[in-house]
This record gives sequence, structure tokens and C-alpha cells, in this order.
Amino acid sequence: MQPDASSYRADALIAEDIGAYLDRHQHKSLLRFITCGSVDDGKSTLIGRLLYDSKMIFEDQLAALVADSKRVGTQGQEIDFALLVDGLAAEREQGITIDVAYRFFATDKRKFIVADTPGHEQYTRNMVTGASTADLAVILIDARKGVLTQTRRHSYLVHLIGIRNVVLAVNKMDLVGYSQARYDEIVADYRAFATGLGIADFVAMPISGFKGDNITAASPNMPWYRGPSLIEHLETVALDEEALARAPLRMAVQWVNRPDLDFRGFSGFINSGCVAVGDAVRVLPSGRTSTVSRIVTLDGDLPRAVAGLSVTLCLADEVDCSRGDVITAAAVPLEVADQFEATLVWMADEPMLPGRPYLLKIGATTVAATVTAEKYQVNVNTLEHVAGKTLGLNAIGVCNLALDRAVPFAPYAENHDLGGFIVIDRMSHATVGAGMLHFALRRSHNIHWQALEIGREQLAAQKHQRARIVWFTGLSGAGKSTIANLVAKQLYALGKHCFLLDGDNVRHGLNKDLGFTDVDRVENIRRVGEVAKLMTDAGLIVLTAFISPFRSEREMVRRMVAEGEFIEVHVDTPLALAEQRDVKGLYRKARAGQLKNFTGVDSRYEPPPVPEIRLDTTTLTPEEAAALVVARVLGDG
Ligand code: ADX
Repeated sequence: MQPDASSYRADALIAEDIGAYLDRHQHKSLLRFITCGSVDDGKSTLIGRLLYDSKMIFEDQLAALVADSKRVGTQGQEIDFALLVDGLAAEREQGITIDVAYRFFATDKRKFIVADTPGHEQYTRNMVTGASTADLAVILIDARKGVLTQTRRHSYLVHLIGIRNVVLAVNKMDLVGYSQARYDEIVADYRAFATGLGIADFVAMPISGFKGDNITAASPNMPWYRGPSLIEHLETVALDEEALARAPLRMAVQWVNRPDLDFRGFSGFINSGCVAVGDAVRVLPSGRTSTVSRIVTLDGDLPRAVAGLSVTLCLADEVDCSRGDVITAAAVPLEVADQFEATLVWMADEPMLPGRPYLLKIGATTVAATVTAEKYQVNVNTLEHVAGKTLGLNAIGVCNLALDRAVPFAPYAENHDLGGFIVIDRMSHATVGAGMLHFALRRSHNIHWQALEIGREQLAAQKHQRARIVWFTGLSGAGKSTIANLVAKQLYALGKHCFLLDGDNVRHGLNKDLGFTDVDRVENIRRVGEVAKLMTDAGLIVLTAFISPFRSEREMVRRMVAEGEFIEVHVDTPLALAEQRDVKGLYRKARAGQLKNFTGVDSRYEPPPVPEIRLDTTTLTPEEAAALVVARVLGDG
């Protein structure tokens, strides 16, 4: 679709369907913005001023806020304002660790939602959350202090999140005698920094939240400033949505209406562009094309619809399209890929571990994903790139990601809905990170799966067996290797083809570059899992004896093979017993502090909740334990 054609459509919409246009206009008239700065910069005062001047502070809200601030005041405008600000500040302080406070106000021209987020570095993730839906950011600077580290950090985050409208509000101008020279100096300082960051443009204004200068109207105290007041600017600034409406059509399919509901339609939110009946569209990732036959909404059919509306599209042809697919303009499709470079903001206490399987939710799809490499971390205060392997809480890094299947996407800079994602922990289902896709890695397009003529089934049948991974897990000294060796011997004696991968041995070769940090253990198990998987492709029964302390990675290996092929064996030996045996003398060393990150001492072991086999070594001899495993391996295959 040509951009000209779609802009014509927006105008045509006004001419032909004023109702639909008004609908959209109403939607458009909401501006979401974020205020960046700390209480010291006058953030609460500014927000209080916006609420107060727009008369949007309701009696009960005020009463609650005032009660919070534990101050009693007399009636009167100035006092009320001060109380309101105190109330906001008190509320902010109390809610500081919770999340983002959203406050609502409106003027004749627009409605506003302001996300008030804590300014300190430990609340980076809150700021990212608050800013993720914002159209505009107000960066507050105390005129007495000028551009500070936190100004830079906030600006970096605002830029990262892709907020294109930036207001530099130089506050507390009353405290610097409304000095134009001071204002100019700060703006020049900020411009130098912002340009380096890639912030193409920003609107600067001198204000006083406390006194109300340049908040709703031009301040008589600063006749040298000729720009708009803050409210005027907020009321008139162009919204990103207008640009989105002119971009090519993208609609992530949220759900598919079944044919038994008398028509087959694909429902979703139009992320960008517009669509009309008769338009040629393409469904991704399949790439199949069709034309739009109907645009259905709750209020009836529409001849056309634009970005920001939720609709159901019916297509002229029977094309496969499921939840998570994206319907695009036929001539301007999206890229489809499974490996990316992305920026990742980490939001969990538990660090990001490369190689660990996570879930990634992008558009309307959820896919399995791992971080394959961390390129660098960004020091959010100095903006320096620093080397790192993991990401801790609030850390930001640029990483390569691999998904388990290809998804349609747009770079985040082009489309936040189709290039932004969240990362979910597979075990707890908590959101642990958020990120922005930069581009697809070229290797994603150039490596194709080679279909093998002789497959795993034939190779296993030739050996008269079913391929298996028998995964032993347990503490160091639990008896994994001992039992696994006995199992291997018995299987061999029975004519089975098996191979034992053992922790200590693999760490002499393939994994000799790995130690015992969490990061390295995850990578150890990831590689062992891949090797074991390849060996099952050769039709082998693979036995593995690794501590494999984390559930996440064991589950990842389980998912690599077919249902029933993975047999998890928990060699359940209490720590005290393993330590008492201490065959290799490692527990002694660990207790003496000579060995760091030792499992059970200063590194975690997560027992499997429901292993296929649990071997209680306090009651079973190694031979009895091995016999149980052999019976299971032979019995179910
Ligand atoms: S895993 O945690 O990554 O699965 P793996 O099974 O490969 O560990 O290696 C464990 C073996 O390495 C132990 O049996 C022990 O002999 C040795 N080892 C050396 N240092 C450590 C340590 N810090 N923690 C656990 N095992 C260690």
C-alpha cells in the first residue's frame, strides 16, 4: 500500500463517515505521558500543579491525599495547592516500591494520563513500565542543578522506549531569578547530550511548578520565552497514532472465529495502517495472500478501518491463519525470523541466564526463547558499554535471542506492538524482562534444517530399541555416576546400544571452558542436552549423569525430545549423607571456603517435583537402584 493511498483514506474517512472519524478523534484525544525526575526536581509539585490548574482534583481525592500528608491546613487556594502537593509526594513515597501511579486529568482540548514513576535507579523497571505506553515524556530539571546523572539516565530510557516527544522542563525558574542565561546554558548542555544519544528533537521550556509560571499560560516573569506553556504544548502535540495510521497495515490476530459461528473471521487490534474491503492482504508467517471481504465490528460492518480499532477481518479465500499470525498489506509484508538482536531490560531479582529457556510474548504470540549471547550491558548512568554475561535486576543489555520458531516482527523503532516483547519465566510465569527487537540476525535466514533421509526411527529400529534420554540428576556424590554406570552395563549386556555422558568427563572436553557459576551450569546443561538429543537422533539410549541443579534446564531438555522419551531419574541422597561420604573430598574443601559455588553449600539444587523415577539411596543399594531404572527403560519401550 502506498503511503499516499492511506493518507487519502484518512481524509476520505472524514468525508464519508463522520461517525467513524469522530470515534477515532475521541480516541486520539487522549495523551499519555510520563514525568521523569525525582521529588527534588519538583515532580510532585508539577503534577499537583497540572491537576490543580486543570481543576481535575476531586474533593474526595484531595481529602484522601491531604489525610495522607498528615497535615492540617486552613482553607484557601494556596494552602490547598500546597496540601495537594504534599499529599502527592506522600502517596508517591508510600507507593514507591509498588509500581507506577497513573493520574488522570483533562482540559477542553484533550484528556491526559500521566504516569508518575519513581526516579531512582533501583526503579528503572518501574519507569520502563510506566513509559511503555507513553506518547510523550516530560524531563524535569532543577534550574539550580542543571543536567544531572539522573537526567541522562531518564533521557536514555525515554529514548530506548521510543518516546519521540520529549519536553525538557527547566523547573524552579523562580529560584534562579527567572534568568534567561541560566536557562540557555542548561538547554545547550542538554542538547549536546541528547544529540549524542540520538534524541533528534525536544521542546524546552522554562517553568515553575510551584509558582505556576508557563504551566497554563505565558508567564509574565519570563517575557523572553516565546514558546508555548506546558499545557498548551501537551494539548497540541501531534500523537504517534497519526503516523501509525499512515504506516502499512499490520494487525496481529488475537483470535480466530470458528466457521461454526457462521463466518470465519480474524479478530485483532489494527496496530498500524488502515484496511478497506477489497484490499489485498498477506498472512504471516505463512505468506499466503487474499483480499478482505468484510470488516466486522460490534457496531456492524465498516467499509474501512484504521490503526487503533479492534476489528474482525473476513478474507475472500480459505487461508490458514491462527492466533499470533499477523495480517499485513500484501505489498508491504513484515519480515519473519527466529533470531534477533534486541535490547533487554531485566526486571527480576533472579538474573537473566544465557541459554536458559524463557517464554517471549511478542504481538499476540508466545514463543520459547533463549538469550544466545550478551553483547554488552549499558551502564545507565554513564551510558558506557560494559562486558557482562548476565543481567541483574534493572540492568539493560544488548543481546542476541533465538526463538524456537520464526515470528513476524517489525523493528521496535518502527512499531512498538510488533517489535516490543516481554520475557516470562517458564516456571513461575512471572514477567522477568521487557525488550525491543532491533533486527533479525542474518544467520536466521541462511541456516535451514536439512531433512535426513535415514531418520531417528530407522536408526533406532535397526538397533531394536527406542531412543531414550535417561537423565540422572542429584547432588555431587549422590551416586549418579555409579548407578548410571551399572545401568549402562546391564543395558549393554542385554544387547542395547547406549552411551553414558558423565559430568566430570564432558567437563574435560566439550565443556572445559565452563566453571560452576549459575551461568556456566546453565550452558553446561544446554550443551549436554543438545548432545544427548543428537545421540537419540542416532537411535541411542543416552544416559546422562550431571548434577543439573536447575529445573528450568532439565525441563528444556525434556521438551527437546518426544513425549515419553525423557526419563528423569532423581538420585535422591540427602545432603548430609553425600557430604558424609565425600568421595572426592570436595565438600570438605567447600566447607573450608576453598571451593566456591559448591552445590548444596553455596549454590542451589532444585529437586524435580515429579521425576519419572526417584531413587532413595538411603534405602536402595546401587544395584537395586540400577535394576529399577533398567526395568523402566525396557518396560515402556
Ligand atoms: S552441573 O551443576 O553443571 O550439572 P556437573 O555435573 O557438570 O555440574 O559437574 C559436577 C561435578 O564437578 C561434581 O561431581 C564435582 O566432582 C565437580 N565440581 C567441581 N566444583 C564443583 C562445584 N562448585 N559444584 C559442584 N560440583 C563441582
